[in-house]
Amino acid sequence: MEILNLWETPLVVNHKEFSNQTELLDIAVHCTGTEDSNGTFLPGKKFLNDPKLTKLKSWILETANDSIEKINREFWDKKYSARFLDMWSWSSNNYSNPLHSHPNTSWAGVYCLDPGTPANKAHNGSTVFYSPGNWGTFLDAGLAFLDRRAYHIHNLGAGDLILFPGFLKHSAQYVGTTPRTVIAFNLIFD
Ligand SMILES: [Fe+2]
Repeated sequence: MEILNLWETPLVVNHKEFSNQTELLDIAVHCTGTEDSNGTFLPGKKFLNDPKLTKLKSWILETANDSIEKINREFWDKKYSARFLDMWSWSSNNYSNPLHSHPNTSWAGVYCLDPGTPANKAHNGSTVFYSPGNWGTFLDAGLAFLDRRAYHIHNLGAGDLILFPGFLKHSAQYVGTTPRTVIAFNLIFD
């Protein structure tokens, strides 16, 4: 008998705070997306090409290239490099980013500038990642290995980065007395 464990989902985490962290926070706050009264996302100002982000972007690309090359080592016949498709920020005392994926990208990521001061509420300020393997399945004890890994709650502190495959469904919600501020982005490899 043999047991094959297939279809794992890699996430990549890293941490760095930059000498211009305050400047980065200012940009993210100033350029933040917003929600209208129906909760529809409204994009903020573009800042991907702002030179103040040069060090942050280089570090994100370095992290992505090092880790994702390892993940794909046996499948790549040549070197591929990550580049940014887009980047946006979110800074708010009160928001809910419901279940979604980033369908038109390879990998996506979030860099946290300020985790805010979350009110005492379940998963508040967390990014929740949902298993790609258990949607619509019957659940009983035989599938406990799926059910118990149905989601991963990830807490980002200042300077924390997480990279995840764009197909992976996730959500985030936050209520607090000070804003939670993050920069999010999409990457493709070519
Ligand atoms: Fe997202």
